[in-house]
Amino acid sequence: WMEGKKITTVEGLAFSGDLDPLQKAFIEHDAPQCGYCTSGQLMSAKVLLSRNPRPTREEVQHALTGNICRCSNYNRIVEAVLAASSKA
Ligand code: FES
Repeated sequence: WMEGKKITTVEGLAFSGDLDPLQKAFIEHDAPQCGYCTSGQLMSAKVLLSRNPRPTREEVQHALTGNICRCSNYNRIVEAVLAASSKA
């Protein structure tokens, strides 16, 4: 299914040792708690920002739907994505 397709994983977000602005925002906003969901949250947010650099809070919440955070840290994750969007 993925033959000939480009795949980016969370490891591919950092470039030459520099974290992606989204990763930095997650750290600055204390978004990762246990970290179990963080990769999925980051990749969903990255896709959102690539398509919509200035999303609303509701658009961020919608884009992250399906990434279950057992730590219930949704508010900080959304704040981090909004902060990263202002730097895009
Ligand atoms: Fe623990 Fe989301 S940070 S599951």
